[in-house]
Amino acid sequence: MVNVAVVFHSGFGHTKALAESVAAGARSVGNSVNVAMIPVAEAEARGEELDRADAIIFGSPTYMGGVSAEFAKFKDWTAKRWYADAWKDKIASGFTSSASWSGDKLSTLNQLMVLAMQHGMVWVGLGMKPGNNHSKGSHDDLNRVGSFVGAMAQANADQGVEGIATSDFATMEALGKRVAEIARRQKAGTSQLAEAA
Ligand SMILES: Cc1cc2nc3c(=O)[nH]c(=O)nc-3n(C[C@H](O)[C@H](O)[C@H](O)COP(=O)(O)O)c2cc1C
Repeated sequence: MVNVAVVFHSGFGHTKALAESVAAGARSVGNSVNVAMIPVAEAEARGEELDRADAIIFGSPTYMGGVSAEFAKFKDWTAKRWYADAWKDKIASGFTSSASWSGDKLSTLNQLMVLAMQHGMVWVGLGMKPGNNHSKGSHDDLNRVGSFVGAMAQANADQGVEGIATSDFATMEALGKRVAEIARRQKAGTSQLAEAA
């Protein structure tokens, strides 16, 4: 069994809806993938699920050009795991949403990536060409926001989850699928190496 944890904060539901798509993408890899959806408020109580995860996907809205305060609190809580190298070599990735097209979402993803690097995790980017960056492109394109480091979504400030484009949900699914596939491959490779040793 491959365990994938999606740990996220969402103030107004956008990032939660995106997290559900990330989880659906991971589950689409097959029955061998077990996905835990963990709001940051539950992270302490559900710490064991994070510890046994083969991959952790971090999700935060972009607030004031970075992760939300609630996510930052979780980030600092992970220092307990850092001391013990508890998450070393786990696969990691991340996603964010914001209202503006840029909105400094890259800053948020960079914070998530640095968090993973501090833990010695192995960061997986989106692995997808940008969409909607040429004359025949459209908002229906996957990765319409054009991110590489992780997955990004844009939703207008005056709309709820209905303001999230179908293509952004699909981009999140692609991220979840990619991370679960890579985690599965890594776990299989590790088992093979252990058998051969
Ligand atoms: C405190 C706060 C700060 C925000 N800062 C930004 C920002 O820096 N850039 C941006 O584009 N949108 C910003 N927004 C909009 C949110 O990123 C956007 O509405 C996001 O989809 C919210 O996700 P959530 O519903 O999961 O909280 C901000 C919203 C709030 C409440």
